[in-house]
Amino acid sequence: MSDFEDTIARDQRIEPGDAMPDGYRSTMIRQIAQHAHSEIIGMQPEGEWITRAPSLRRKAILLAKVQDEAGHGLYLYSAAETLGADRGDLTRRLIEGRQKYSSIFNYPTLTFADVGVIGWLVDGAAICNQVPLCRSSYGPYGRAMIRICKEESFHQRQGYELLMTMMGGTPGQRAMVQDAVNRWWWPSLMMFGPPDDRSPNSARSMAWKIKRHSNDELRQRYVDMSVPQAEALGVTLPDDELRWNADRGHYDFGTPDWAELTRVISGDGPCNAARIERRRRADEDGAWVREAAAAHARKREKVVV
Ligand SMILES: [Fe+2]
Ligand SMILES: [Fe+2]
Repeated sequence: MSDFEDTIARDQRIEPGDAMPDGYRSTMIRQIAQHAHSEIIGMQPEGEWITRAPSLRRKAILLAKVQDEAGHGLYLYSAAETLGADRGDLTRRLIEGRQKYSSIFNYPTLTFADVGVIGWLVDGAAICNQVPLCRSSYGPYGRAMIRICKEESFHQRQGYELLMTMMGGTPGQRAMVQDAVNRWWWPSLMMFGPPDDRSPNSARSMAWKIKRHSNDELRQRYVDMSVPQAEALGVTLPDDELRWNADRGHYDFGTPDWAELTRVISGDGPCNAARIERRRRADEDGAWVREAAAAHARKREKVVV
């Protein structure tokens, strides 16, 4: 048994300097990069509402949340760099469409209720996905995840609290919340990826303890968690097949439109082009800052010598 296999078998962490199979390294880089890109692209749909927040308090909360997502992106790009990846290269791959980000961020945010529903459902689904990743076999990734998950809990709570407030408001506000729930529920179920029998990389990621639960297990956990929260809020989840199954001890639910997921992942969602274009412009606009920072770092190095 190699040191790598032994470390995995003993449930210990793989660290940056350790020997690891090429497949493990490239899978880890791809997963961490995809996750980092999701955090950064995920700033856009909600960021659009910062200037239109209905009060100073809501603006401060939203600003803090969107800034957290930038921080998550930074920890994760740093984790990818410990595996030998180059951050500029990863950004280029994103902009050129060679690396993916979560399909959920290709949907538009039409009203301020979307900010609440993203916090409640999208950050809620992210928590289901990410809590098991705190035990992921790659050390820097697992440790980054611990802090990220703490911040995601705040994101979910601020979203839920916003929705509670709106549900206690006017009939128009309640209708806005229900409309946002109708639009985000199914895309949030798709955040767990395709069903297990159509998820080709899952088995190997489970064997390497990168992944601890299957897509369908996590999706079920998310549904079971969300239904009582929807009831407490007073909204209806848009699924006629959703009902408690006493035999299974879980909620049964309908089948997401997997053709839609495939379409959105392959670039044909409502906002894919706009999201990438905005990221490309931000990268170009920031080029002079990166160059200046690098020049400053070089100068300081000389001074120290
Ligand atoms: Fe995040
Ligand atoms: Fe978040």
